Amino acid sequence: MAETISITDVSPRDGLQNQTVHLSTEDKLELIARLVAAGVNSVEATSFVTPKAVPQMADAGELVPRISARFPQLRTSVLVPNLKGLERAHAAGAQEVAVVLSATETMNRKNINMGLDEATEVSAQTVLAAHDKGLRTRAYVAVAFECPFEGKTPLAEVVRLATRMHATGAGEIVIADTIGAASPQKVRALFAALRDVVPMDRLAVHLHDTRGLGAANAWAALEAGVRRFDASVGGIGGCPFAPGAAGNLATEDLVLMAETSGFTTGLSLDALLDAVDFAEQQLRRPLGGRSSAWLRRQRDKRLAAELQPA
Ligand code: COA
Ligand code: ZN
Repeated sequence: MAETISITDVSPRDGLQNQTVHLSTEDKLELIARLVAAGVNSVEATSFVTPKAVPQMADAGELVPRISARFPQLRTSVLVPNLKGLERAHAAGAQEVAVVLSATETMNRKNINMGLDEATEVSAQTVLAAHDKGLRTRAYVAVAFECPFEGKTPLAEVVRLATRMHATGAGEIVIADTIGAASPQKVRALFAALRDVVPMDRLAVHLHDTRGLGAANAWAALEAGVRRFDASVGGIGGCPFAPGAAGNLATEDLVLMAETSGFTTGLSLDALLDAVDFAEQQLRRPLGGRSSAWLRRQRDKRLAAELQPA
């Protein structure tokens, strides 16, 4: 029996938060519809942050109830940086929230205007308050390999913060390579240390493909026992507050790698291409991801063969 991996597609949040083209609520729903059609059962839909910082996510309060109404089965997480974000997310009917704690002082300041200690406390309080409201939680540990301001992140610091968020009860600890600076060896070393403090099935990995190592890093995570992945269709994504953060590991690249290596994802590559096509039309630029060009050629060949007279 093939082993299953679970994928949270973060394109509606991480993918769109940094785009010069701002998608309408309607178009975000259409993107999510295509993801759902491809078999995606978990998305990170938006963030409840100040629209002054991220105007692309200003419609979060309207988007979440529309997702719940249209896709009631879809696991939908939303990013919240603080208690105010949690209140807004709860009011919109969100069932799951993700807090974002960076592993360095400067990254927390740039991202959420708090130092590391305050960010740790606020993240923990937000997780506890979310549980009081009956919500599920994820906790990001961001810049887990390298910080754009402070350089290499000490492994022990990531382990310390992951341990803290796990002790707080966060449902999933998401180790994030925010600027795509990891290597397979570093991924292996970090998860080897993390598995001693957080059960493997509570750990997830969130990779960016800045240096073309996204899939290699995902493979290292798989070999280390990680079975929960964030990815973004078309490889879109990046953090407006982390210079050098390029797109996420593309969902289609992860699916292709996993499915051809004995894992089951439940996702259809053909249907994912429809989501890639849609994102590309909307954003009006070529996207990231390594496999979509090849996948499109296979699709074209199949279509051409189907059009041949018998
Ligand atoms: N959602 C909406 N508005 C919020 C908010 C939230 N979660 N948290 C605070 N605010 C509002 C406050 O009400 C206040 O509004 P006012 O000026 O109208 O009174 C204003 O923002 C400033 O509040 P303050 O608590 O001083 O926040 P801040 O200026 O220190 O900013 C964050 C802190 C976290 C709100 C801000 O840095 C942020 O939104 N960052 C976005 C991070 C992000 O999305 N990064 C990318 C993904 S990792
Ligand atoms: Zn990211």
